[in-house]
Formats: sequence, C-alpha cells, structure tokens
Amino acid sequence: MERTDLLTLPATKKRIVVLGDPHGDLFGLAEVLEREDRPEVQIFSAGDNIGYADGPTSSELCRILAEKKIPSVFGNHEAWSPTGKLFLSPPELPRDLTPEAHAWCRGLPYRIRIEAAAAPGLKLALVHTVPEWNYVGHDNARSFSATEDVDVIFSGHTHRPAIFTIAEERVAVEYASLSPKKSPLTVSLEKGKRYIADAGSLARPNQGFKSQHERGSYAALDLEKGLLEVHAFSKREKMQALMARMIEENTRAAREGKKPAP
Ligand SMILES: [Fe+2]
Ligand SMILES: [Fe+2]
Repeated sequence: MERTDLLTLPATKKRIVVLGDPHGDLFGLAEVLEREDRPEVQIFSAGDNIGYADGPTSSELCRILAEKKIPSVFGNHEAWSPTGKLFLSPPELPRDLTPEAHAWCRGLPYRIRIEAAAAPGLKLALVHTVPEWNYVGHDNARSFSATEDVDVIFSGHTHRPAIFTIAEERVAVEYASLSPKKSPLTVSLEKGKRYIADAGSLARPNQGFKSQHERGSYAALDLEKGLLEVHAFSKREKMQALMARMIEENTRAAREGKKPAP
C-alpha cells in the first residue's frame, strides 16, 4: 500500500534537510547531525535506512532516527526486508534487525507531503524514487514531477546527488560533485519551474560509477531564501578516529594478555 503522510511544519522551521540513503552509515548520520541538527531545521530521511550495513548497525541507525523523531519514507531495502532479515548485507555478519528497528521500518509511509508555514504555498514531497524502484534520470524527471504534482520532490535511491530543474521547455540536471570543496551545489527556486533534489547517500554516494564510501551527501532547502542545496562531505576523519581507537584498544588488550578484538 502506498501510504502518504502529510506533515505541516510550523513557522519556526526555516530549513529542511533530507538525508541521502543512510544504509546504516552511522558516520554519515553523525556528520549531518553535527552540521544541521538545530531547532529551526527539520530533518527527514529519503529511505533505504538499512542494508549494505549489517543488522545491528542498520538497527542502530533506525533507533537514532526514531529517537530523534526524524520522519522517513521507506525505500526498496525496507520493502525487500519484510521479515526483518536484511536482503542485502555483508554475508559473514548478522542480518537480523532488532524487533524495534523492524517495527519502525514497517511503519514508514511511501510518501510524505510537506507544507511549511515559512514558505506558504510551496508544495513539497519526499518519496524514495519513481514507481517500481526505477531510478530518477533525465528521461523520467518530468513525468515523476507531474505524478507527484509538487514544486519540489526530495528523493534518493540513485545514490547520485543531483538537482533537476523542470521548466516548460526543457529539463536540466546538475549533478553534485562529491568533493567537499565544491559543495554545496545550489539552485534558487523560480516561479513556473519545478525541481527534484536527489539527496544521494550518506553511505555510498556516486557520481555515476564507483561508490565513494568515505564521502556522504544530503539535500537541503532554505525555506526563507527558496534555495535548494545538495551537500557533499568527507567521513574520513571519523573513520580514522575509530580505527585509531580500535588499534589502541587492541594494543592494550595484547599488553594485558587478552585476546584482541577481530
Ligand atoms: Fe533505494
Ligand atoms: Fe539506496
């Protein structure tokens, strides 16, 4: 069933942030929360919160989103893990979601329509992708926009962050660089045009080919300025800090004659 939720944001919410497919990436989530988790920002998730990562890690990401009341739509990974066993995760690691994370995933809507008091009349929708889990691209952007019938669609699924501008005469697409130095890609909303902001992925964004696991991306909309943004960031520092901590712990364990962690 394609459930649609409606969310009306109060005037205190001046900015929308949409997490690109998180896929259990706790580094990416931590990075976006550090940058964007403020009272005036409403954060959403584009779906595919689980998978690629193992069951416990995927579950922990869902737990944080639930705890922080971050609304999400469901993606194909939630749809294809109906029993709580991940359909795609590292083969040697546990695949089961916790009962709580599974229940949270099963409760997600297909689509969220968003209205914001800070931008009256602006119609917004969050949906993982086009029907049948196909990818959004230049060829179907116009029909996707017509089906959703809103000014701005936030989507994910491709893992390739981009902004599509749909004007009467043509569809233009700008793909975001994954280089933090070239971030963000911005587009000012104009009357008579519609937009699709593909948030990419916190976990494994790409630029049309290989996934870049040390980078992450998300979309944002400044409601007062009418400015659409796609941000890319590096997770390298957080990854290196974890590795340094693990080496330190293993060294200490070895000194104390304990078996090091794998
Ligand atoms: Fe997806
Ligand atoms: Fe995905």
